[in-house]
Amino acid sequence: MSLPDRVIEALRCSVCAEPVSLTGRTLRCERRHAFDLARQGYVNLLHARIPAGTADTAPMVDARAAFLSSGAYAPLAEAVAAAGSAPGLIIDAGAGPGYYLSRVLDEAPDAVGLALDVSAIALRRAARAHARLGAAVWNLWEPWPVADEVASVVLDVFSPRNAAEFHRVLAPGGKLVVASPLPGHLAELGDLVLAVDSRKEERLEAALGGLFVRESAAEVVRTQPFSAAQVRDVVAMGPAGFHLDRDGRRERLEAAAGRDVTLAVSVSTWRKR
Ligand SMILES: C[S@@+](CC[C@H](N)C(=O)[O-])C[C@H]1O[C@@H](n2cnc3c(N)ncnc32)[C@H](O)[C@@H]1O
Ligand SMILES: [Zn+2]
Repeated sequence: MSLPDRVIEALRCSVCAEPVSLTGRTLRCERRHAFDLARQGYVNLLHARIPAGTADTAPMVDARAAFLSSGAYAPLAEAVAAAGSAPGLIIDAGAGPGYYLSRVLDEAPDAVGLALDVSAIALRRAARAHARLGAAVWNLWEPWPVADEVASVVLDVFSPRNAAEFHRVLAPGGKLVVASPLPGHLAELGDLVLAVDSRKEERLEAALGGLFVRESAAEVVRTQPFSAAQVRDVVAMGPAGFHLDRDGRRERLEAAAGRDVTLAVSVSTWRKR
């Protein structure tokens, strides 16, 4: 498990912003700042502590991986792959276990992928998810350890959106693909999951509109029965998965097994202004 060469070329030292190269299992810049590759193939470029509660935890990542492999979000993965496949470097911001990025890479045989996420546990899975995928632990709210204008595509699926860094790393003509929940998403599960902000689309426009022009928008809307395991995993993969022992939530979760649940997500593509 290692990092594809074309991913290493795009990475920058997170201390001094110089290019890095790989010797053995260590990434090094010319000033000799060094970052070891983990046995699982990802590299941790973080050097500052991150606030507790930021990164997805092991139980959340396990639940997300199980839920995604059940196929419940396959229509969303298809829409993201259709919007985001292009040759070159595809960066997935907040990639989690790498499910969407690996689907996009399947559609883009000449591309390589860089998964960024602050959860090393999620990136253990991402690093194994696809042969052309490299993974680096990073806090998306800090300037990214990535060169200017190297990416043909940036993906953001349900993850923090740093518009300035999206803009800086995208090559001229590059494309940003954003998936975000619409009102009605998982609504049948009530407060077992986080409520969707009804002004989410407006907030997306406010966050991105200064630097990007919206080029297209698709809606993936589907209602399908969720098995007991799918209900349990979709709850456990989000922040609302904690505190299941309060307010009869566990009973309500069990009662939701077999219920029809709505997937409602917008997939929008944006070009640099
Ligand atoms: C809702 S999950 C989505 C993961 C993946 N895109 C998916 O849909 O399967 C959000 C992801 O963002 C990551 N994350 C949250 N805050 C972050 C930050 N400041 N920097 C980097 N990653 C962050 C979490 O660890 C988690 O993997
Ligand atoms: Zn350095």
